[in-house]
Amino acid sequence: MAFPTHRPRRLRQNPAFRRLVAEVRLHPAELILPVFIKEGAAEPIQITSMPGVVQHTEDSLKAAAAEAVELGLGGIMIFGVPEHHDALGSGAVDPDGVLNRAIASVKSEVGEGLVVMSDLCLDEFTDHGHCGVLTESGAVDNDATLEIYAQMGVAQAEAGADMVGPSGMMDGQVAVIRQALDEAGHQDTAILAYAAKYSSAFYGPFREAVDSQLSGDRKTYQMDPANRREAMLEVSLDLEEGADLVMVKPAMSYLDILRDVAEISDVPVSAYQISGEYAMIEAAAANGWIDRDKAIVESVLSIRRAGADSVLTYWAAELGRWIKEGR
Ligand code: PBG
Repeated sequence: MAFPTHRPRRLRQNPAFRRLVAEVRLHPAELILPVFIKEGAAEPIQITSMPGVVQHTEDSLKAAAAEAVELGLGGIMIFGVPEHHDALGSGAVDPDGVLNRAIASVKSEVGEGLVVMSDLCLDEFTDHGHCGVLTESGAVDNDATLEIYAQMGVAQAEAGADMVGPSGMMDGQVAVIRQALDEAGHQDTAILAYAAKYSSAFYGPFREAVDSQLSGDRKTYQMDPANRREAMLEVSLDLEEGADLVMVKPAMSYLDILRDVAEISDVPVSAYQISGEYAMIEAAAANGWIDRDKAIVESVLSIRRAGADSVLTYWAAELGRWIKEGR
């Protein structure tokens, strides 16, 4: 028999073959759009380090949510950018706070048209920028923070969130939020656990997006990028505590973790393609160094292939449109 006996190229010979044998393909329903709402903004404000992403006004946020429904996206994840900050992040639990109001307004706009999710974390609301409240010596106080997370979860559910996303990496956060939701009669409010969240340099542009007050870092609560086994522990704990979905974040530098999590999880797995991942591709493309559209598709495809059932990405709407238009 003539050499070579195996010819994998046969299945790559034209687009029809390639389409037939593609193992993963993108669908709008698995894309989740993260959005920012800025208290007091008269116009949407461009985020310099994330070209194409804005801090929304209430009206522009509603329009973005309506578009997400029209495109058939899976969900929208709302982050609040308050005008005032304080040590306890009290805007987070205030029903009139920017995030809780935005949840209510998005929910009234979309109804059951998509899953309305909210960031459950204090960093946007505190004057020191940490994800929790501080002890007198300035350390992040895990258990005191949990009490506030519990109230925040209930406030968000009351505002209309279908799913809350605790992203602060406090120990026990999923259990405490689950219990508080249940006790308040919100058994149906789901929890998307930021289960394996790493302390990453790639969050840089997000800090501009939320007007972050942080000086220092989050290394005492977010995970060390060196650790893989520890992610399994974090995910197992969140599953035990009642997480409905588990997430890995960031995505692209952590595809090995995502693969491992997809193997052990018995609930759906999500991944967050974060601000720095977005900014790198946009910046390289703006310089003409890579093909923007192809890089976007490849990056999200790689996250799906690694094991994510759904992906939070700032390109969700644009990508959703491309898919819908059959590009
Ligand atoms: C914390 C939070 C962060 C992000 C999402 N939730 C910032 C952080 O942990 O420092 C980052 C998202 C991104 O970079 O796109 N509330």
